[in-house]
Amino acid sequence: MSDRVETLEFQAEARQLLQLMVHSIYSNKDVFLRELISNASDALDKVRLESLVDKDLQVDTTDLHIEIEVDKEARTLTVRDNGIGMSRDEVVGLIGTIAKSGTAELLRSLRESKDAAASQELIGQFGVGFYATFMVADRVTLLTRRAGQAGGTRWESTGEGTYSVETVDDAPQGTSVTLHLKPADAEDNLHDYTAEWTIREIVKRYSDFIAWPIRMTVEKPGEDGATTREEQTLNSMKALWARARDEVDEAEYKEFYRHVAHDWADPLETIHMRGEGTFEYEALLFLPSHAPLDLFSPQGRRGVQLYVKRVFIMDDCDALMPNYLRFVKGVVDAHDLSLNISREILQQDRQIRAVRRRLVKKVLATLKDLSAESYRTFWSEFGAVVKEGLLEDPDNTEALLDLVRAASTHDPAELTTLRDYVERMRDGQTEIYYATGENRATIENSPHLEAFRAKGYEVLILTDPVDEVWVERVGAYDGKTLRSVAKGQVDLETDEEREKAAAERQEYADLLTWMSGALADSVKEVRLSTRLTTSPACVVGDAHDMTPTLEKMYRAMGQEVPRVKRILELNPTHPLVTGLRKAHEQGGDGTALTETAELLYGMALLAEGGDLADPARFTRILADRLARNL
Ligand SMILES: Nc1ncnc2c1ncn2[C@@H]1O[C@H](COP(=O)(O)OP(=O)(O)OP(=O)(O)O)[C@@H](O)[C@H]1O
Ligand SMILES: [Mg+2]
Repeated sequence: MSDRVETLEFQAEARQLLQLMVHSIYSNKDVFLRELISNASDALDKVRLESLVDKDLQVDTTDLHIEIEVDKEARTLTVRDNGIGMSRDEVVGLIGTIAKSGTAELLRSLRESKDAAASQELIGQFGVGFYATFMVADRVTLLTRRAGQAGGTRWESTGEGTYSVETVDDAPQGTSVTLHLKPADAEDNLHDYTAEWTIREIVKRYSDFIAWPIRMTVEKPGEDGATTREEQTLNSMKALWARARDEVDEAEYKEFYRHVAHDWADPLETIHMRGEGTFEYEALLFLPSHAPLDLFSPQGRRGVQLYVKRVFIMDDCDALMPNYLRFVKGVVDAHDLSLNISREILQQDRQIRAVRRRLVKKVLATLKDLSAESYRTFWSEFGAVVKEGLLEDPDNTEALLDLVRAASTHDPAELTTLRDYVERMRDGQTEIYYATGENRATIENSPHLEAFRAKGYEVLILTDPVDEVWVERVGAYDGKTLRSVAKGQVDLETDEEREKAAAERQEYADLLTWMSGALADSVKEVRLSTRLTTSPACVVGDAHDMTPTLEKMYRAMGQEVPRVKRILELNPTHPLVTGLRKAHEQGGDGTALTETAELLYGMALLAEGGDLADPARFTRILADRLARNL
């Protein structure tokens, strides 16, 4: 019986990986338990499958489960399963070596990279698996019996280069892994893994949806003061996403949504999908019915959780959902990833990118198909965020433009689609007109809109900060240029009106030249307007100038942007403007004329909801004028 106990050396690569574990490169040591439970769960899956395929296999599959046991005195933690188990050869092959391809390569890069963050990232491509136990234990014992075989195998190691294997006569079916725990060390994130509460927390966090029961015997104070022991199942096992759609009822979806989204309300819509083929995954996503408070905060939560075969990997997995869909909540369970994968690796993973593309398409298609009523709710809560997609996601511009809803002068309350706007466009109209500003009332009363209103052109009213940017970026819809009513020259006139305007320009030439000089510090030009009917003046930008709102936005974000001078437009039919022209022709008082020019400019700024550069001076001039007229 001399071959019963054997001391063997770990394969070179395994030894190196173990070194990394022993001198732990991870700050999150809790993950060892997730690795053990994941292995146990795989082993249970395998025994069930094998018992179905091989009817003669001598196995007991009546109560497949995982068990956690602690011994506070001995400071041990055992994770036990009654799954497939391993033969002696398998133990040597599977635990003593690393079979995965690319290991040598990985370890070489690990050795070469000196910094810890880079190592974390590299090892994320690879599973740390069973060896993670050596982060928290200085000795690990494994006892296992392969289902259908008589004898068992005992394996033990301190993680230092060698391990022992011993054939034993009797062992229960399955595998138990016993960790002889290192002393707890809070500073090193090494918790007390014999504490019931700690184990509960870790199981809840990482392994709640494992399909097999994870049991633990816990102590409870009994009625007579004595403690009683009771076996409890720690995990809920309810991985809804792994079930077929028609096997899940609405109430279960809702309950699960509340769980992942930490939301008290029901979701607006549920998306349950499955990806098959080379990269398998399941996704259960939800569109919330209301926006969270941190929707616009950079620290806000992003929603989608990543699982690998029902094991929780991370919250807020930004590799799976673009920023502009950050309100989408739920779970993506990808089958073929390492449990240890890092965010950085995920970002670069080709398959993850493909999954993300599919998820985005699915979310956009779902939005398109929402009922009118649901969509109204959705848009009022999340529209401003979705529009960010027009900047971030050029691949989906078309789909996103079809989702856009905007207020419009066409209807005081109902929002319109761009499609409907285009259908209502007047004969000969080639552009889509829009106005941006802080709120509907200011925009509607702004002088920029006067001619459009007088001539019956519909104007979109855009009040979200992001609107300024996306209209510029997108430029056109359905071949029609998106055109700001506050920029460039407006051409809404008939030939007759054009002739009249040319004559007026002659008449006003002197005044305009003088005023352009008098206001040169504030505006780049003073000209006659074709967009005013009732106001005396307005300020407009050149077609490609930055708008004042955008300027403000960039400054608020701490970016230096040059101050853009705009153009002052005068209404040649307004008495204040005709009066000023006459006064100027007659060579009136220079100071009074300049002050009137300043007043005109200031009023134009106020009318569009803008800010005066020197409000005190403006009010003083105005008060003087009013006093003189009393
Ligand atoms: N409880 C167990 N029952 C049966 N076999 C096990 C058990 N634990 C580990 N094994 C075997 O040992 C192998 C190595 O485990 P390890 O956790 O290191 O890697 P893995 O599970 O294959 O991959 P990863 O954990 O990185 O996803 C497993 O593939 C499995 O064959
Ligand atoms: Mg594993």
